[in-house]
Amino acid sequence: MEDPFIHSTPTQFKSRRLTSITIVFLWVLFLLSFTASYLTLINSDHRFLQTSLQKTVRASAHIRRANGISVLVTGAAGFIGSHVSLALKARGDGVVGVDNFGSYYGRSLKMTRRDLLDFHGVFVVDGDVNDPRLLSMLFNTVEFTHVMHLAAQVGVQYAVENPYAYVRSNIASLVTLLEKCKSADPQPAIVWASSGSVYGPHNKVPFSEMDQVDPPPTLYASTKRTGEEITHTYNRLYGLSITGLRFFTVYGPWGRPDMAYFSFIRNILQGRPITVYQDKNRVDLARDFIYIDDIVKGCVASLDTTGRSTGSGGSKNGSAPYRIFNLGNGSPVTVPALVTILEENLKMKVTKDVVGMCGNGDDSFAYVNISLAERELGFKPATDLRTGLREFVKWYLWYYGNPLGPKS
Ligand SMILES: *[C@@H]1O[C@H](CO)[C@@H](O)[C@H](O)[C@H]1NC(C)=O
Ligand SMILES: *[C@@H]1O[C@H](CO)[C@@H](O)[C@H](O)[C@H]1NC(C)=O
Repeated sequence: MEDPFIHSTPTQFKSRRLTSITIVFLWVLFLLSFTASYLTLINSDHRFLQTSLQKTVRASAHIRRANGISVLVTGAAGFIGSHVSLALKARGDGVVGVDNFGSYYGRSLKMTRRDLLDFHGVFVVDGDVNDPRLLSMLFNTVEFTHVMHLAAQVGVQYAVENPYAYVRSNIASLVTLLEKCKSADPQPAIVWASSGSVYGPHNKVPFSEMDQVDPPPTLYASTKRTGEEITHTYNRLYGLSITGLRFFTVYGPWGRPDMAYFSFIRNILQGRPITVYQDKNRVDLARDFIYIDDIVKGCVASLDTTGRSTGSGGSKNGSAPYRIFNLGNGSPVTVPALVTILEENLKMKVTKDVVGMCGNGDDSFAYVNISLAERELGFKPATDLRTGLREFVKWYLWYYGNPLGPKS
């Protein structure tokens, strides 16, 4: 007897081979159909997400007043961006935000600002301005009349360690955005954040838009100055309406924790001394501080007076406005004066360590000429430092809690 398991007949062998081919075939079929249905699922999921995202964006951009505008606000979860977005929404304009929630001064404050915006019907897309596909989606979904470009890498010191962050955020992203705006039809008008930092030690005070500002004193200033040149080129080549705003030191509720006045209030509350710098003639440093509500008015007035972009689909049709405005308070405040007001508000005292600077002190007394913005925008800062800091302190204690205050 032949053992069939050892010596299979040709027919047996054939049928067994057939069986294994069938099984392989069935497996392949099964895997194919599984993959196909999986892909369909992913795809429809993606399309569903895309459609629901567009629906949310459209709702956020909805205009609720006569002659309202629809504004794409970049850096919407930032300090100025969140305030401007809320102000526009409150008067009935359409607002869509975009923000990459960068971690420069921590994400949690930005997340909270986003929740606040969300509560008021402003949707903030979590994404990067330097992503052309995201911008295409937004511009295909909404016909923006204006772009308020506030997304930026800020801070003067941070640039020493992270120069490329400034090139990416302040130059590359700006070009990506301008490319999209240039080919949009109709083209939106653009208002964007330059900086008062473009003025250097060689500039006379008060700083004026007419002054020769080059060379910029820092890399941060350099990227902002470059932005002014790049936007000017897009204005001349493609008819984009451009307004650049040179912000000075903006302070107030929901402000940026990396700024000096935040460290002052932290130190006062924790009983730590504050370092106060003086120039070589023992003169206190002074800066131009402007309250956030006043800056918001300047931003909104800028949007309302842009004038139209003239081009469409990438080609120019006539010249368009190119404007630059200083937005500051127009009066200098010394650091000790600011610290004293904080002390009064907190009913606490702090030790001030006075440190002399070795520099020549040329830029120790910086403030700004705002007569151009007064004339063209009706810009008139209305909040004095005492009132503004009172609002800031109230917000600070509410947001961070007062570690030394009465527990309730
Ligand atoms: C260019 O602008 C003029 C008005 O200034 C308008 O009459 C004309 O239709 C525009 N041309 C294009 C191609 O948009
Ligand atoms: C401020 O700037 C305007 C021009 O915008 C100029 O006429 C005026 O003299 C300047 N004021 C000072 C104090 O420099």
